[in-house]
Amino acid sequence: MTATIQDAAALDARDSLAPLRERFHIPDELIYLDGNSLGMMPKHVPERVQNAMTAQWGTDLIRSWNTHGWIDLPARVGAQIARLIGAEAHEVIACDSISVNLFKLLSAALKLRPDRRVIVSDIDNFPTDLYIAEGINAMLGGQYELRFVKRDRLEAAIRDDVAVVMLTEVDYRTGERIDMKALTARTHAVGALTIWDLAHSAGAFPVRLNDCNADFAVGCGYKYLNGGPGAPAFLMVAERHLGTAMPVLSGWMGHAAPFAFDPAYTPDSTVRRLTAGTPSVIGMTALEAALEVFDDVDMNALRQKSLALTDLFMELMQPLEAQYGFKLVTPRDHARRGSQVSYTHADGYAIMQALIETKVIGDFRAPDIVRFGFTPLYTSFQDVENAVKRLTEVMSTRRYAEPRFQVKAKVT
Ligand SMILES: Cc1ncc(COP(=O)(O)O)c(C=O)c1O
Repeated sequence: MTATIQDAAALDARDSLAPLRERFHIPDELIYLDGNSLGMMPKHVPERVQNAMTAQWGTDLIRSWNTHGWIDLPARVGAQIARLIGAEAHEVIACDSISVNLFKLLSAALKLRPDRRVIVSDIDNFPTDLYIAEGINAMLGGQYELRFVKRDRLEAAIRDDVAVVMLTEVDYRTGERIDMKALTARTHAVGALTIWDLAHSAGAFPVRLNDCNADFAVGCGYKYLNGGPGAPAFLMVAERHLGTAMPVLSGWMGHAAPFAFDPAYTPDSTVRRLTAGTPSVIGMTALEAALEVFDDVDMNALRQKSLALTDLFMELMQPLEAQYGFKLVTPRDHARRGSQVSYTHADGYAIMQALIETKVIGDFRAPDIVRFGFTPLYTSFQDVENAVKRLTEVMSTRRYAEPRFQVKAKVT
């Protein structure tokens, strides 16, 4: 499906994924272009959470760990996510947050390369990724070089002194997608290991971790997986590392026999060794239910729709670039694009606030980026057309210049 400017309604009529939109709760008139921050709620999720609360927690209480399979939720949810990210079910587990999972995987990966003292990342990576590397290095007495470089210097930075290359596949600000396969191959050629952050990839397009020979990965449940605010995250360990990746957060849930209450720690032989404490059952229940929307989704069709939506948006935005000074920072090249489109604009924050008032929700990232996320499960082509119409109105009336739109909220 290649979109040019044509009737959005006709594109929707031809869209094989269009019926999925019905499965989401979409408030009246709302055009939601922020699924790259917090996905929309599938309609069936509240009932499932309600059941976990009242029947499972309220009535069955502690028995539910066995009778309702709470204890296996992390592995079950991990298996659901595995298909979306090109991994095997037994390589993925749902747990904690991306930050905590990065801590676990980076510490484990560094131990697999004991003779090397360099961690490579992109200086424009999401800050938590960089902070976690800094924290681990500080804990280890500052013995590592944190080689954080601009994206165009990455290849050159990956040399034979490197232990781990830690990268995010899709840039959270620009939506640029980097070449996982090529960078993983480059990393392996120098004998180092990769950790991929899939925050803006999982559920947005088919990720191919094993096809790329990736070593480790993390991702979150609350963006394109629609698991709800603060949903559990996930981690992936390639099968070849399952027996050797040693947990630093050696909690009882990662023990080979948690209910043996052995005073000494023995890691489980499966990916469960990378979990630490009791899983968040309510959050996992919401994520497990939300993931069912993907059950029959052809991920290649999802990618085609994502590209068609973002193509159409870029095309309809072109007059606004010329007239109002928006500057596109997302690559036009399909291979280098995730599922969001971003522009810089000096008045970006106020423009986004004014746009939100017209019920088109995107978001803003400092210093000057407005972001629009496209979720093929529920974004329609008419959403794209109407969003640009409302933005045109905000710009032509200069409504964004009103002082109330300048007031910065805690969360942008
Ligand atoms: C690329 C990336 N990594 C990590 C995070 C933060 O993850 P968490 O809050 O689950 O630690 C985000 C949040 O938006 C992100 O975009």
